Amino acid sequence: MAVDLLLGLQWGDEGKGKIVDVLTSNYNIIARFQGGPNAGHTLVFNGRKHVLHTIPSGIFHDDATNLVGNGVVIDPVIFKKELDKLEEQGVDYRKSLLISRKAHIILPTHRLLDAASEASKGKAKIGSTLKGIGPTYMDKTGRNGIRVGDLELSDWKTRYRALANKHESMIAFYNVDVQYDLAELEKEFFEAVKVLKSLKFIDSEEYIYQAQKSGQTILAEGAQGSLLDIDFGTYPFVTSSNTTAAGACTGLGVSPNQIGDVFGIFKAYTTRVGSGPFPTELFDEDGETMAKVGNEFGATTGRPRRCGWLDLIALKYACQVNGVTQLMMMKGDVLSGFKTLKVCTAYKYKGEVIKHFPYNIDPENVEPIYTEFSGWTEDLTEMSETSQLPKALNEYIEFLEKELEIPITIVSVGPDRKQTIFRGQLVS
Ligand code: IMP
Repeated sequence: MAVDLLLGLQWGDEGKGKIVDVLTSNYNIIARFQGGPNAGHTLVFNGRKHVLHTIPSGIFHDDATNLVGNGVVIDPVIFKKELDKLEEQGVDYRKSLLISRKAHIILPTHRLLDAASEASKGKAKIGSTLKGIGPTYMDKTGRNGIRVGDLELSDWKTRYRALANKHESMIAFYNVDVQYDLAELEKEFFEAVKVLKSLKFIDSEEYIYQAQKSGQTILAEGAQGSLLDIDFGTYPFVTSSNTTAAGACTGLGVSPNQIGDVFGIFKAYTTRVGSGPFPTELFDEDGETMAKVGNEFGATTGRPRRCGWLDLIALKYACQVNGVTQLMMMKGDVLSGFKTLKVCTAYKYKGEVIKHFPYNIDPENVEPIYTEFSGWTEDLTEMSETSQLPKALNEYIEFLEKELEIPITIVSVGPDRKQTIFRGQLVS
């Protein structure tokens, strides 16, 4: 069986967690392939909200196996907190949660390095979640990292000490004010490592290969969004992993010819948290309304998200880079009440009109050109069928499908599992 992918097409926070949760009953295995606790995947069901950071969003389904792939970076401390929350809710994760031996570990000093690096950048800071993601991937590519499988070796603490010492000298090199008590942080870290070690570590690429061979269905769950991809995102204001489809191949050990459907998730408007260019950003009442109605605050950091109109040029670019086969539009309900809606359908780039996503989208180079649509006033949150959707929303959806040449198969009208409208065949 091919592996299906689910990815965010914007700057993260598109609502991937909800859709994975909705789709999980179609799959035997849900696998995270990149990122780490910088992600915050929100799921709402039975009147309760759940936020997952590293654990795949299939964990609340009894029948699904949840795999943390080799491309993920794991902070044992945050991981333990997630497990504690699951335990409180009576979720029996022990038999359904598997961890790749090749996933890298975030050390306390990686988090400190993240803080020191950001502080040293001043106004040019990335706006990192400060979870140690960048420094951990730097150690991975620099061939210095500590992997989950290393925790099974007798000398891993010696290697830990050498790396942590090196990090401390790097923190001092930044010459910024980062206060810390490493002994305290390490106490918490080593306790959490014990818990991590009680879980099942596997050779995940072999596991996935055998699962595919035996006909099991697999959904790869992306984190962050395509415009935060280390190669294709708005560099340097990006995260440190490949958030796009290719990342699922390297982050799970799945070959490109084994990829099936690619589900692209996008919001009916755009948001961004952290620094970096955002051509359709709004600084007016419309932006404030989106933020308020859409409750646009980061699930991991609580930071307010920047809001703006849908950017079709950026969305088309993300669809191309990922090979998206089906689209899922989130938060359509947030746009109810806007008299007029705008969609960016071209950029004015250095005086020329262009229709592709260029190397540099800094505000001094790019000005969005908008197409306007009539809004609707109806509350969508109680709707459950396509036939109930307002005519103006259908026109908005059909315009996007025509421009992107990809069907929109889900329209989400609220955070709950139940607030999901299916517009066609999902799994092909
Ligand atoms: P880092 O990955 O924590 O270093 O953050 C790098 C950039 O990616 C910052 O602008 C973050 O706000 C952004 N970012 C990282 N993870 C997420 C996410 O899950 N959702 C939205 N933005 C994210």
